[in-house]
Amino acid sequence: MPIFWRIFLTNLVCVMGGGWLATEITTRFLQPGAITTAMHLTLIGFALAVSALVTWRGIEYTFRPLRDLRVAIDRFRSNGADMVLPSGAGGDPDTRAVARAVGDLWTALSQANARVAEQNDRLRVLATEVIAAQEAERQRISRELHDEAGQALTALIIGLERGENEMRGDHLADARANVRRLRDMAIATLDEIRNLAIDLRPSVLDDLGLVAAIRSYARAVMARSGLAIEFVVVGVDESERFGVDIEIALFRVVQEALTNVVKHAAATGVTIRLARDADRLVALVEDDGRGIAPVEGDRADTRRLGLFGIAERAYLLNGEFEIGPRAVGGTRLRFSIPADAHRDGVSVKTAHNGSERVLASASSK
Ligand SMILES: Nc1ncnc2c1ncn2[C@@H]1O[C@H](COP(=O)(O)OP(=O)(O)OP(=O)(O)O)[C@@H](O)[C@H]1O
Ligand SMILES: [Mg+2]
Repeated sequence: MPIFWRIFLTNLVCVMGGGWLATEITTRFLQPGAITTAMHLTLIGFALAVSALVTWRGIEYTFRPLRDLRVAIDRFRSNGADMVLPSGAGGDPDTRAVARAVGDLWTALSQANARVAEQNDRLRVLATEVIAAQEAERQRISRELHDEAGQALTALIIGLERGENEMRGDHLADARANVRRLRDMAIATLDEIRNLAIDLRPSVLDDLGLVAAIRSYARAVMARSGLAIEFVVVGVDESERFGVDIEIALFRVVQEALTNVVKHAAATGVTIRLARDADRLVALVEDDGRGIAPVEGDRADTRRLGLFGIAERAYLLNGEFEIGPRAVGGTRLRFSIPADAHRDGVSVKTAHNGSERVLASASSK
């Protein structure tokens, strides 16, 4: 029988039974006019108490399974133990069935959550490994470019210069011009190879540290692109060293931010700020270009890996990342990580930063 009817009929029986009993008592055992107001009130009070008791017991019995379920969920929440569903008999069968269904759902949900968390952990390890492998490969190629191709080109340039000097006489003027052209080409190629090697992994980052690496990279970009770049360092010593993960992450973020400014911003000036804020290191890159539009900050576009890569580094190093337009025009990118970050934490931040709307941030925990 549905719960509603069970409660309704129980109350109906109580009320009718009480009425019948009161009528029986008054008509059979008492003289007319013998009932005083006090007795009247006592009888009504007694009937009400009996009715309330029966109703309370009925409702308590009906909803006992839900109460047991709530206790089980509270216990699960407070100590994280496996949820033990209320067992066996007791209580209304309908509510027990509902409680059991909710309990089963809860258990299924917990198991699914545990599976997602496990997969998330695996993905995190995989992403960390991919980034580490990419860095190692970049370092290897950068060294090879520098040591092998760079040395070979330098030797070639010296040889060409020597050859040019040894070609004397007017009859060799054309040959001299050809050799000079070849030497100029070799010099330009050497420049390109050096830039490529720096982009891949500047040795100054490993040898002298983050500040020197950013400074030297900013100079190279300035020379290549004509951008006016200002580099401000606050609270970090010039020669201070951090963990290799931190140095690489911050360098790569600044590198990608500058590449984006050159590629997309149509800016004339950029300010890079590297600062220590309490126990965090913050890299801030602000340009005076066209600004970033909301849809551009959306990293769902898998063809665009730059901002996605920055968010990924933030995710893996317990960091925070925001990019958005500046109120005064241009784009502002902020990346921060704990100065002693390890690749095991996650922090989520979706924020509005004063008047500067934040379009993208390290996310998804
Ligand atoms: N400083 C900036 N000024 C203006 N727009 C920007 C700036 N930085 C990024 N964007 C916009 O955000 C988009 C996403 O940047 P992201 O670095 O992820 O991709 P990408 O530079 O196009 O490609 P990739 O970095 O993979 O070579 C860019 O295509 C660009 O439209
Ligand atoms: Mg990019």
